[in-house]
Amino acid sequence: MRSTAAEGDPADPRAFRSALGRFASGLTVVTCRDGERLHGMTCQSFASVSLDPPLVSVCLRSGSPTLSAVERAGSFCVNVLAEDQQWLSDRFGRPHPDRWNGLAWSANPSGHPVLPGCLLSLDCTLSARVGAGDHVILLGGVDRLRPGDPAGRPLLYFGGGYGGLLPVRRRSPPEARPRRTLGSAPSPGYLGVPGRLPGVTTIRSRTPEPVLDRGPAPQPRGRNRREWTCW
Ligand SMILES: Cc1cc2nc3c(=O)[nH]c(=O)nc-3n(C[C@H](O)[C@H](O)[C@H](O)COP(=O)(O)O)c2cc1C
Repeated sequence: MRSTAAEGDPADPRAFRSALGRFASGLTVVTCRDGERLHGMTCQSFASVSLDPPLVSVCLRSGSPTLSAVERAGSFCVNVLAEDQQWLSDRFGRPHPDRWNGLAWSANPSGHPVLPGCLLSLDCTLSARVGAGDHVILLGGVDRLRPGDPAGRPLLYFGGGYGGLLPVRRRSPPEARPRRTLGSAPSPGYLGVPGRLPGVTTIRSRTPEPVLDRGPAPQPRGRNRREWTCW
C-alpha cells in the first residue's frame, strides 16, 4: 500500500502538519493593542466553544508577541477573514517589518483593532489559559459580535493553501458514481483562488506549474442554491 503523510509518525512535525492540513478551516486574525503597540496574528485554530456562556478559543504559539500582548491586556479581538482577504492572512501570518503600515482599522471598546471587510469580528475577554505543548489555548468570553457583510464569503485554508467556496455539484450516492481512474484527482498542495467571474475558479499549483482552469462551475439551482463546496 502507498504510504502517505497521514499514515506517518505524528512525532514527525512535517508529517503531523501535513496530515492535519487535511482539516479545512476558515481563517482569523487575532488582534490586540498593548499600550501603544498593535499586535495581530493569523490564526487558523479558532473555534466556537460554548453558547452559554458564549466562549471561543484560539490557540497561539508560546512566545508569540501577540500571545504575550493578549495575556497582558486580558482581552483581544478575533477578525474572521473574507475570501478577498488572503493578503491579510499573509501579512499577519509570517514575519513582516510593519504589519500595520497603511492598514485601516478601527478600535473596539478595549482599543483592539477591528479590521474592515471581515465577515465577523468578536470582542473577547480572556477567561482562561491552558498551556498545550508548544502552544497556549486561550478561552475568550465573547462580549460583542460585529457581523460584516451578510453576503460575504469566507477565506478557507486547506492542505497548506487558500481556497474559497463554490456551489456544490449535486452528486449521486457513491455506489452510483463512475469509478475514478488513478491520477484524475488534482495534485495535493493546490491553491484554490476564486476567480472574478461568478462560478469560475482557477486552481493554482503551489509550485509555479501547472496552471489549470476548471472553467465555469455548474450554477446552483432551486433548493441547492445555498450549498457550497471548497476547492
Ligand atoms: C494560514 C495561517 C494560519 C496560522 N494559524 C496559526 C495558529 O492557529 N496559531 C498560531 O500560533 N500561529 C498560526 N499561524 C502562524 C502565525 O500567524 C505567525 O507565526 C505570526 O507571525 C505570529 O505573529 P507574532 O509572532 O507577531 O505573534 C498561522 C499562519 C498562517 C499563514
